[in-house]
Amino acid sequence: MSGASEYRPTGRRIRASFEGEPVEAETGVSVAAALTASGRSAWRTTREGSPRGLFCGIGVCFDCIVEIDGESGQRACMIPLREGMEIRADGGADRMEGEA
Ligand code: FES
Repeated sequence: MSGASEYRPTGRRIRASFEGEPVEAETGVSVAAALTASGRSAWRTTREGSPRGLFCGIGVCFDCIVEIDGESGQRACMIPLREGMEIRADGGADRMEGEA
């Protein structure tokens, strides 16, 4: 099918962490999908305290940003979950807005 997702289920599970807590998902899913599947609907807040998480799911809104392995400002919806990945909450979008 043309234009279909490149996601191919493998059945293999991989483990990562979010704020030190275990996150587990099947290979090929995005960080945002793994966080959502683990029961998280938001993983950061704006400066005003509003919760943010997965919104557009296509890399446009930057609501989903996280820190991954020490690199801030990563869009969780665009990055596949990898074994051992250390994910943390990130206020990068707000920081970037402040720098504009
Ligand atoms: S959910 Fe919008 S950029 Fe990730």
